[in-house]
Amino acid sequence: MAAGLLKPAPSVDPVPATGDQRIEVRGLGKTFAEAVVAVDGVSFSIAKGEFVALLGPSGCGKSTILNMVAGLIPKSSGEILIDRTPFAYGTVNPKVGYVFQRDTVFPWRTVEANIGYGLEIAGVPKAERKARVADAIRQISLDGFETRFPRMLSGGMRQRVALMRTLLMQPEILLMDEPFGALDTHTKLEMHRILLELWERERQTVLFVTHDLGEALTLADRIILLSARPGRIKEDFEVPFARPRDAVALRETPEFGRLFSHIWHSLGEEFRRTRAD
Ligand SMILES: Nc1ncnc2c1ncn2[C@@H]1O[C@H](COP(=O)(O)OP(=O)(O)OP(=O)(O)O)[C@@H](O)[C@H]1O
Ligand SMILES: [Mg+2]
Repeated sequence: MAAGLLKPAPSVDPVPATGDQRIEVRGLGKTFAEAVVAVDGVSFSIAKGEFVALLGPSGCGKSTILNMVAGLIPKSSGEILIDRTPFAYGTVNPKVGYVFQRDTVFPWRTVEANIGYGLEIAGVPKAERKARVADAIRQISLDGFETRFPRMLSGGMRQRVALMRTLLMQPEILLMDEPFGALDTHTKLEMHRILLELWERERQTVLFVTHDLGEALTLADRIILLSARPGRIKEDFEVPFARPRDAVALRETPEFGRLFSHIWHSLGEEFRRTRAD
């Protein structure tokens, strides 16, 4: 059974005092206007090179947590540390890259101009930029599409451009908010393959928000399951599948099925709670 693969729910303080932690969140809370408590007392930590999925039903506060960790919105309570340093709202951390839920490519820029955008802003000389962009385009199999505009691409292609534009900035910490949520099943699997290949090479520290359990199991080392709103940590599961992973073959293994069923049960309780609200 999946027992033995699981870590106990973090009932006390799950943040270790030492270790190679890149992201530490302690007692994080967010109350919006009109007293909407979106997030309440969330604590977790992510070690260097770890890929963590934040899983929970719609409206449970996943994006809110990610946006606070990214410094895009202020927190109401608690602490966020990046590399053991408290992180203030509104500051830009060059080590952190963010991939949004909707594809956020610039419609007026070609594929190569989109991918090279960050390098351009960073003042990387044109010749170097061109070489790095060409290499990046090969890695996401968009050769031949360099001078196309986003409207001429499929949703999956646009999302590959958005992903690579962020990765090309070489972020050490990658925050992703359901980046493949709008894609069909097959395109999503292709994106998983591409992301796994890129990540297994660089091993960035990743916090990946999703409500798709299959996606979380395919990609992550750990799954933090949130309760229905207000988001609190319900359980913290270890995903012990060997790497490198094959996004398609992995789903056919009995271990995948077992862990899926186990977490599904817990997730299902939260879906029901959301519905009952
Ligand atoms: N700017 C805001 N003002 C008021 N309430 C907000 C704001 N942003 C989010 N909320 C509320 O906070 C709660 C959590 O929202 P959040 O977007 O973090 O959920 P989520 O888990 O990312 O959902 P989804 O899976 O649908 O993206 C929701 O009840 C939402 O209505
Ligand atoms: Mg969201």
